[in-house]
Formats: sequence, structure tokens, C-alpha cells
Amino acid sequence: MERVRITVFDTTLRDGEQSPGCSMNVHEKLRMAHQLDRLGVDVIEAGFPIASDGDFEAVQAIAAAVRRPIICGLARACPADIERAWQALKAAARPRIHVFLATSDIHLKYKLRISREQCLEQARSSVRLAKSFCHDVEFSPEDATRTDREFLCQVVQAVVDEGATTVNIPDTVGYTMPAEYAEIIQMLRERVRGIENVTISVHCHNDLAVANTLAALGVGARQVECTINGIGERAGNASLEEIVMATRVRPDRYAFDIAVASEHLYPASQLLSEITGVPVQPNKAIIGRNAFAHEAGIHQDGVLKNPLTYEIMTPQSVGVPDSRLVLGKHSGRHALGLRCEQLGYQFDRRELDEIYRRFVVLADQIKHVEDHHLLQLIREARPVSKRMPPAHVEAIPPVVIAAVAGQAFHLPAPLERHPLEMSLHSLHDHHAEQEDYLWGV
Ligand code: KIV
Ligand code: ZN
Repeated sequence: MERVRITVFDTTLRDGEQSPGCSMNVHEKLRMAHQLDRLGVDVIEAGFPIASDGDFEAVQAIAAAVRRPIICGLARACPADIERAWQALKAAARPRIHVFLATSDIHLKYKLRISREQCLEQARSSVRLAKSFCHDVEFSPEDATRTDREFLCQVVQAVVDEGATTVNIPDTVGYTMPAEYAEIIQMLRERVRGIENVTISVHCHNDLAVANTLAALGVGARQVECTINGIGERAGNASLEEIVMATRVRPDRYAFDIAVASEHLYPASQLLSEITGVPVQPNKAIIGRNAFAHEAGIHQDGVLKNPLTYEIMTPQSVGVPDSRLVLGKHSGRHALGLRCEQLGYQFDRRELDEIYRRFVVLADQIKHVEDHHLLQLIREARPVSKRMPPAHVEAIPPVVIAAVAGQAFHLPAPLERHPLEMSLHSLHDHHAEQEDYLWGV
């Protein structure tokens, strides 16, 4: 069977950034954009250039530095926004302008205070203006799923006639259900002339974001808009890692070709969490701390005999280091160094010593030191990180880390007290003889 190519449109740096606490500066966005490039996403929505000078600069910097994927900038449907977006994007190897305009009656009446006729005309003229700058133009009728269906068809027809190359159907407020969303996509495919030459994109917010996205793929949507860790406006966007892995695990239901290199999912998740300081919920599918952890005896027994008894994918396939093995106070410098390397950091002996000293103090306080603790230690010890280029990270084989027998499948609750709160004083108090003992490990 021929596999259909799905475009992955990552909006971590735009919609994701709209999550409270997730805003990123230019440098942080650039770091994240390089990671998204390694991951293999097709489109990076880098920001909303008119929103601030910082966001304009970030989109401009990403457009200049990240050359493989399409770089997209968001614009409201008005000339100032579209012109600003183009100024930020024009140096990109493959620029895209993304224009949006609300189309539901509730938004037209209370937010925009315009009629449906005015909305139609604004959609048309905005796409026309964007096309005068850039061939690749995406249009989103905001709040599409609460828009009168007849009117939605008229708006989509108008922007397709003006040359929009992608039409995105956002479930802005997380209102729709899988079957209903699929009906809307199907209706557009049947009723809009020329839509067969346009990519239909889906953009869902939680609560049912991933389920709705998958339902839409089943009826012909060919671009998915999503974010790392599912961050995004309100309750978040559809999670990139969940969509990708759903299609990988169930090719019998979703025979799609998606270019994402899944082994980079966990590093991307960790990097985002490190940059924003927002931790991933422990039970988050695919990349959460508990996603590959087993505590129940029956599960442990099954997984020991064959992991496939209770795991539908391998941790390695999503870049999660072997979760059965735990970094604790019995772990040595060697294991710590290798774990740092797996997380993308390489240190010389002296730097590793410093991190190790902090690590041992922490490991004395909590049972198991997890990646987010370690990243925090690294950040404290080395404010300017030494993340390795991806090729180096890839070359490192999975590593075995010392674990206490019998606890190997149980990952503990996170540290309640932030490691930052530990005083430097207590770090330096660490006993010299214990250091000597640990040196040899
Ligand atoms: O959710 C939404 O409607 C959006 C649009 C700007 C595409 O994020
Ligand atoms: Zn959105």
C-alpha cells in the first residue's frame, strides 16, 4: 500500500510559547529551532513577528540559521501584520506566511465586530497581500469548529481561490469531537472547488487534541500542527510526540509517512523543559517520567520476561535512555558522565568533578537522581551549557547505570524541594573521604 506523506508543522515556538510560563527569548528559540530541525519536522512556526521586537528578531534569526525546514511566521489578517511577518521571513530558504482570521459568529460579533461579508472580504484581501510577498501562504479560519458550516465553506473557497497553499482548520477552543472534526474535513473536501490542490491542515487544542488530529488524518488532512510536550494556549496543543508515535505504533490504522526522527523526541522534550523551566507531567505519554516505568509486580514480571508484554514501543525508539536503570548515590562518576553525554552535554574532568560533587549531595537527599535534577545541576554548575552537536549525541550507545536491585523499575516522585534551593555552603561541606571513595568509581 502506498504510504501518504504527512507534513509535521511544529508550533512549539508560537502557539506553544503562548503557554503561561513558556515564553522564550531569541537565543532560546534558536536553540529549540535547531533541535526541531534535528527532529526532522517539516515546518517550524517560529513566532508572531508583529507581537514584539523580540519575536520579530527570533523569526528573523531562525529564518537565517535553519535552512532545511519551512520557516513560518504568524500574522493577523491585516496589512501591518502581514508586512511585518514578511520582513522577518524574507531571508528564509523556504518562507511561509500564516494568516488567520476568526470566522465563528461569536468571534465576529464580540471580538472583531464585523459582519460575515466583511470577514470574507478581509480573508480574501489578506491572502492576496500575503501572496504578493510569498508563494507559500497558509490561512486559518480561527474557531473553525464553532463556525457555521456553510460560512466556513465560503471562507475556505475564497482563500483557495486567492491562492492559499495550505488551509488549516483550527479547533481553537478545544470544542470538537473526533467524529465531528472528521465530518468537517470531509465536508470541505467535498464542497470546496480546488481544495484537492491545497494541503488541509489540522490544529487542535486539548482536551481531545490528539484524538481529533488522528480522526482528521483518517479523512484526508495532510498536515498536523502540534507542539513538543503538548504545550500551547489554554490546555495546550496536540502533542507532536503522541501523534508521531501513534502513527508509528499503528501503521495498520495510519499508513502515513512522517519524516520525524523519533529517537530525538525525548531530547527535544528535555531541551524544551530545560529552556522554559516547565517540567513535563510524570504521566505524560511517550516522554513522561512514568511512560516506561513499572511498579506493579505483575507488570515488572512481564517486562522482565519481555518488555513488549506491557510496552507498545521501546524507550530507545523515542530516545528515552533505559528507564529501568537508575542514577542514585551508588552511581559513579563514569555513569554520571555518560548520562550527561546522553542528555547532550560533554564535560572535561574538572567540570564533571564539580557536577559530581553536587550530584552526590543531592543523591544523599533523594533516592534517585532523575534527568530533570541532573539538568538543573548542570545549569547551576555551568550556566553556559556545552551541549554537543547532534551527531555526537547519536553516536553514544545506550548505557547501563548502577541501580539498586529490586528498585530498578520504580522511578520515584520528583524532588519537592528544588535543587537550586540547596545552599552552596552545604555543597562544599561534603565529606572529603566520601569524595575519595567515590573518585575511584
Ligand atoms: O488555535 C488557533 O486558532 C490558532 C490559530 C492562530 C491558528 O492558534
Ligand atoms: Zn492554536
